[in-house]
Amino acid sequence: ILDDANDVGYWAARIVVKKINSFQPNESKYFVLGLPTGGTPLSMYQRLIEYYKAGKVSFRYVKTFNMDEYVGIPNQHPQSYHAYMDENFFRHIDIDSKNTFILNGNAPDLEEECRLFEENIVKAGGIQLFIGGVGPDGHIAFNEPGSSLTSRTRVKSLAHDTILANARFFDNDVAQVPKQALTVGVGTIMDAKEIMVLVTGASKALALHKAVECGIFQKFVGGPQDAHRGSLSRLKEGYSRLE
Ligand code: GLP
Repeated sequence: ILDDANDVGYWAARIVVKKINSFQPNESKYFVLGLPTGGTPLSMYQRLIEYYKAGKVSFRYVKTFNMDEYVGIPNQHPQSYHAYMDENFFRHIDIDSKNTFILNGNAPDLEEECRLFEENIVKAGGIQLFIGGVGPDGHIAFNEPGSSLTSRTRVKSLAHDTILANARFFDNDVAQVPKQALTVGVGTIMDAKEIMVLVTGASKALALHKAVECGIFQKFVGGPQDAHRGSLSRLKEGYSRLE
């Protein structure tokens, strides 16, 4: 728990650099990262670019898999996650574009696109560190509440809350926000060796509280018996393991 949103990004960047460097990637051993978009990780990307420019990290032997992409907006659209990643991260570092995987929301066969994405993760040897954010309703990537814990990469319709939350990136015009997206599944995320979820801002407080202190079944069962399946001490344990 840190003082402000920038510190969260800086903390995350420090972890990412440590993980990559201690892995010592090379041409036969790539470090595989799962990456998020949205407002939360921006300060992490800025700090990673600074680390790269200062010669403290290289992304030459890093592969990345982005967690989601809208369906039906061109990749060049400024709000596509392709454009976001290029603008905020990839074009500033030494990563090879053939090692950056982002779902194509304009693929002629979306199901096949999702299948290939999962296949590419497996071919890359699995994801070492999956970095995510959450939406105010607790969605991770575009897995809306109620998504199966074993779900894989697939097409999802966005919940109304998510459309509202993301309207800020589309001139505050709900009509412009795509209504569907491709997203990795909860199961895809859970397969990663380590997962780091960044959460900032008061609008996420309830989702964070429920995730950490109420356990996964509380929403469905609602009984006090499930209320402490997760706990703050487990979250703190997670922090120290990452550090
Ligand atoms: C979007 C993305 C998520 C992201 C979430 C939070 O809906 N699909 O991957 O984690 O919003 O975004 P922000 O960090 O802008 O609040």
